[in-house]
Amino acid sequence: MAEIVIVETPAAAGALIADEIARRIAADPETVLGLATGSTPLPVYEALPARLAGLDVSRVRGFALDEYVGIDPTHPESYRAVITREVVEPLGLDPTRVHTPNGALATIEHAGEDYERAIAEAGGIDLQILGIGTSGHIGFNEPGSSFASRTRVKTLVEQTRRDNARFFDSIDDVPMHCITQGLGTILEARHLVLLAFGAGKAAAVAQAVEGPLTSSLPGSAIQLHPHVTVVVDEAAASEL
Ligand code: GLP
Repeated sequence: MAEIVIVETPAAAGALIADEIARRIAADPETVLGLATGSTPLPVYEALPARLAGLDVSRVRGFALDEYVGIDPTHPESYRAVITREVVEPLGLDPTRVHTPNGALATIEHAGEDYERAIAEAGGIDLQILGIGTSGHIGFNEPGSSFASRTRVKTLVEQTRRDNARFFDSIDDVPMHCITQGLGTILEARHLVLLAFGAGKAAAVAQAVEGPLTSSLPGSAIQLHPHVTVVVDEAAASEL
């Protein structure tokens, strides 16, 4: 059973998880972080610089959950660019130790395997930050994703493209495909931290935490993991 923490504000959640990350890095400077994108993890990333001040972060490694396929890594909304802007630069991490799946079309056939190998070579992910989509997705594992899935290309569902259109000029600019860590990949991280804020996430949170284990609600895969912390505000907790 996941540990559920209800906080008053996203900023409080950010502070809580940033403290946990700082403790880990202090204990193990080679900590491997699993990084989520989207708006949900931003309070964590905003709280981190103050908490990591004075710690040696030169050997910290990071792996993003997912990336759009066919987007230029220099596009401001590519997840490579987002992770660079929100995490690597403010924290002063070594950019060569922070990875995103490679969404370039030319190498897409083996990009999933390459990413899995890189995670394995780093010794696996210590703490994986997760958001949850309104479709119940974690990473970009849309409904129908196998619980055993590994990093691979997926087609984004219409709802996710609509949700993410706010980051682009229009929905037509949102890529159709993504490359995402699989549910099986995510479940191998040693500690999962799922964050969700706002009433729009309440149904997905309730189904992920206490609904049936089903690939139609990919977030329910977290119930298979022995060490999960779910941090939600009152609104996102309202259907629990
Ligand atoms: C995005 C990301 C997910 C994220 C989710 C929720 O599309 N691929 O990793 O958790 O959808 O996004 P947000 O946090 O902006 O609500």
